[in-house]
Amino acid sequence: MKPVRTGIIGLGNMGSSHARDCNESEVIEMAALCDVNPDKLDEIASQYDVQRYTDANEMMEKANLEAVIIATPHYDHTPLSISALGRGIHVMCEKPVGVHVNDVGKMIDAYEKAKKSHPDLKFGAMFQQRTMNSWRKIKEMIDGGLLGRMVRATWIVTSWFRTQYYYDTGSWRATWGGEGGGVLLNQCPHNLDLYQWLLGMPERVNGFASIGKYHDIEVEDEVTGVFHHANGMVGHLITTTAESPGTNRLELVGENGRLIIDGNSITFDRNEQSMFEYSNTAEQGFGRVSYITETIEVPADEGGLHRTVTETFARSIREGSSLVAEAPEGIGSVALANAILMSHFTGKTVDLPLDGDAYEGLLQDLISKSTIRKGDAANAKNLDLSDSF
Ligand SMILES: NC(=O)c1ccc[n+]([C@@H]2O[C@H](COP(=O)([O-])OP(=O)(O)OC[C@H]3O[C@@H](n4cnc5c(N)ncnc54)[C@H](O)[C@@H]3O)[C@@H](O)[C@H]2O)c1
Repeated sequence: MKPVRTGIIGLGNMGSSHARDCNESEVIEMAALCDVNPDKLDEIASQYDVQRYTDANEMMEKANLEAVIIATPHYDHTPLSISALGRGIHVMCEKPVGVHVNDVGKMIDAYEKAKKSHPDLKFGAMFQQRTMNSWRKIKEMIDGGLLGRMVRATWIVTSWFRTQYYYDTGSWRATWGGEGGGVLLNQCPHNLDLYQWLLGMPERVNGFASIGKYHDIEVEDEVTGVFHHANGMVGHLITTTAESPGTNRLELVGENGRLIIDGNSITFDRNEQSMFEYSNTAEQGFGRVSYITETIEVPADEGGLHRTVTETFARSIREGSSLVAEAPEGIGSVALANAILMSHFTGKTVDLPLDGDAYEGLLQDLISKSTIRKGDAANAKNLDLSDSF
């Protein structure tokens, strides 16, 4: 396959990692790199034989690219994706696809418009956890009806521990104007994406958040979200960046049993009879449905999760195959994050689809009241991301 001529925009923690992957890939030709910070650009680009740009639009204009990977702070995902799509350049956008649903809506509109003149245009999102064998297996089991009628999905994901040093490494981090949120916008997009990928979107959301409770930040670092689904299922997201040791445990309960994904282990408590059937027919008050516990084995993931997403993107451009995640699907995780925050700030239950204008107004209000003024983080060193995913 002829490698896809690609440029990377944003060369911080994530973009520099994408550059390493692309440089080693046989299906990608890393042709150009871009960062608004000239020192960062030189630091990373000097390791490769590539063109260098401090302006992404100039790079898209001059570098004869087929594709770009966008790894900038969140708000820039929207204008940069729209600019690339409008030029017929394929886009792989980092998570979250946008900060709020109105921005993602604009990106989807731009994609639909661009496809009229470039019908094969690809627009993917970096949801690398969807490539993990464990989540693919869980999806296969749920889609296959293993659990029957779904009752509850409870995700305790408190393993996103972040230090004050982490928040201080970027002037955009943990601010309403720079990042657009905290744990919901930066760490949890992966969990929220998997949640809606596996279980669909709820119809109502309640959210409770703590703002800068454990860190000196102006955004949320502890959250509980409650999701009410049309089929009666209730979901819970419990998350924070302040807990160590943290937990990453998802319990999926259906009438036929309970799937538990706890760290790297997956077990299925298989009911010998539907719990509803048992409840309706038992002739005793305190019995329980008998169940057996099965351990679900999945092969280890190979080849690097981000690299898998990027190379699948390149193959999809050449061969028309599927992406790991279509960027427009990213609106699901953004809507869940926005809805939790909206519920927290208004004290009300939020209906989905979210009122995007109301949320954008709320966000603008938070930005206008922001008092955080961080120092210039232009010289911040990239962090090693290998332990963070
Ligand atoms: N998929 C994952 O697992 C994962 C992990 C970490 C970060 N991310 C995402 O990657 C993105 C970047 O995060 P990071 O941790 O690398 O941030 P970072 O602050 O380390 O790097 C961002 C870089 O973008 C540059 N930049 C800012 N605006 C720009 C613009 N308009 N054009 C070109 N360059 C620009 C900055 O100078 C900086 O070097 C975020 O969306 C983040 O959520 C994803």
